[in-house]
Amino acid sequence: MIFVRYFILLSLFVSLNILSAQTGEEIFKRDCASCHMITDAKLIGPGLKGVTEKYEREWLVKWITNSSEFIASGDERAIAIWEEYNKIAMPAFYYSDDEFEALFSYLENPPVEEVVADADVDGVVVAEDGMDASTQLMLAALALLIISWVLISVKNSLKESLNEETVSVQQSILSFFKKPINKLFSVLFVAIIGIKLFYDVTMGIAVTTNYQPKQPIAFSHKLHAGMQGVDCNYCHSSARTSKHSGIPSANVCMNCHNAVAEGPSGTEEIQKIYDAVGWDPDKRQYIEGYRQKPIEWIRIHNLPDHAYFNHSQHVSVAGLECQDCHGPIQEMEEVYQYSELTMGWCIDCHRESAVMMADNEYYDEMHKKLKVKYAGEKITVDKIGGLECGKCHY
Ligand code: HEC
Ligand code: HEC
Ligand code: HEC
Ligand code: HEC
Ligand code: HEC
Ligand code: HEC
Repeated sequence: MIFVRYFILLSLFVSLNILSAQTGEEIFKRDCASCHMITDAKLIGPGLKGVTEKYEREWLVKWITNSSEFIASGDERAIAIWEEYNKIAMPAFYYSDDEFEALFSYLENPPVEEVVADADVDGVVVAEDGMDASTQLMLAALALLIISWVLISVKNSLKESLNEETVSVQQSILSFFKKPINKLFSVLFVAIIGIKLFYDVTMGIAVTTNYQPKQPIAFSHKLHAGMQGVDCNYCHSSARTSKHSGIPSANVCMNCHNAVAEGPSGTEEIQKIYDAVGWDPDKRQYIEGYRQKPIEWIRIHNLPDHAYFNHSQHVSVAGLECQDCHGPIQEMEEVYQYSELTMGWCIDCHRESAVMMADNEYYDEMHKKLKVKYAGEKITVDKIGGLECGKCHY
């Protein structure tokens, strides 16, 4: 009996903890995330990692409730941090005890950064060199082979030129392959390339997940879509209505950046937007007669021409989230290709995913018929023809 009671208490405790952490996260995202990260990195204010250990609870409550008043009261540590940050005032926040409790427990245990994302990024660094280990090995083997081959050939032709015979091209090619040493090297040469090709194909190295080119402006989805919480559709508005999602023009950036000229890493990157549209951040106006130039973003996701993919069909009709296919974009400092985008990838999902029928005017008639035909079964995309070659290929 005691055990049961203990268990109930424990689970109550756990669920309370989760609850409070959730609201703590909400408070933090709403009120603090625009200026603070829970790492060591500075944003507008200092990184808040470990801040609950650095200061006592009372100090924190006073600071957050009204930092200006607290500074004016002469607290040394408050003055020090205020001066370190060029006397930028932090807004005042009036919270209840519960809210403070939630906020502090969130600051103590922020969600752990996904290790997977880091690993992906590391993987990309290797890919950026343009070569993986197996390619380097193959190249080394080939180089060795060619060097020894050249050395042996030079030795042989020196020997031959002593005999001073003139021979035709065909004859020399024939005699080339007659020599066992050349035969051996040719076979080895072909074999190494063959093995490497086979390896690549079977390991799917041609599949470009994690492709992550260097973009002309260090635009961060983590900062904009994650921390600032800007909706994907604000910038990729055509995803709902058309085949392509599109990349926003610099004018969309200017909606905010005519006011925000400086980010956590300074002014340099944002200046590149101004260079594209011809904006003078000092006078805060467009430069007259400036010839705007588009920002040349490098495309990351790209299907071959023979394949047809339509965003609105998946986002609006099927009701999928961007992240189902593009992964945790809102956590990516730089976008990388998260899914394989192979035919197998499309088809696997079509086999598993049910067609969204409720409240879907798009296929009203068709869905009614399908419901009759497949009564009681899960109606997956393949049942509406999602595996037909012609649906995805021109
Ligand atoms: C508008 C920007 C802004 C917002 C919003 C903001 N802060 Fe700050 N915060 C600052 C700045 C700037 C400093 C550095 C001190 C100063 O200049 O006032 C700071 C300092 C701090 C410090 C002291 C850190 C240290 O290492 O000494 C704490 C703790 C803190 N903020 C907590 C919070 C919390 C919690 C919230 C949300 C409830 C919040 N801040 C919201 C700008 C902000
Ligand atoms: C403030 C504007 C903005 C917001 C908000 C935004 N994006 Fe982007 N997105 C861009 C820009 C600019 C690029 C091109 C540069 C790059 O690749 O980082 C881009 C690129 C991408 C790409 C790669 C396109 C390619 O080249 O293949 C994907 C995928 C993407 N965004 C998805 C999303 C998703 C999902 C969200 C919401 C979680 C989102 N974006 C929110 C501006 C934005
Ligand atoms: C909804 C408003 C909004 C839009 C739209 C927007 N940004 Fe930003 N961006 C911000 C804010 C706010 C910051 C500064 C964040 C900070 O200092 O904490 C910022 C910061 C930046 C930075 C500086 C990052 C750093 O590390 O210093 C760059 C670069 C940037 N944005 C590029 C872009 C580009 C390119 C676009 C258009 C594709 C764009 N932004 C659209 C709000 C926006
Ligand atoms: C069913 C999977 C899927 C979903 C859901 C999805 N995308 Fe895509 N996205 C793709 C594929 C596949 C491509 C490559 C398309 C091509 O090359 O024609 C792509 C390409 C893009 C591009 C590059 C430009 C373009 O249009 O080709 C952007 C930007 C993008 N997606 C943003 C988004 C956003 C924002 C959402 C959510 C509103 C979203 N995607 C939802 C699969 C998806
Ligand atoms: C995350 C799951 C998912 C992935 C990945 C996915 N699809 Fe789909 N797709 C769907 C769903 C769900 C529908 C059903 C939409 C509807 O209700 O019409 C659909 C419908 C389609 C249709 C219309 C089928 C029909 O008969 O009307 C085409 C074409 C299509 N997808 C192409 C693609 C291609 C090409 C890819 C890969 C590049 C892809 N899809 C990847 C989930 C997915
Ligand atoms: C759900 C969408 C979809 C359907 C259905 C589909 N394909 Fe594909 N197919 C693709 C995509 C996407 C690619 C490009 C994959 C890539 O670039 O790796 C592709 C590539 C191919 C290729 C080129 C080989 C390759 O790997 O690039 C061939 C050939 C092909 N498909 C044939 C077919 C045939 C035949 C059918 C009918 C039995 C079919 N496809 C049905 C989406 C589809």
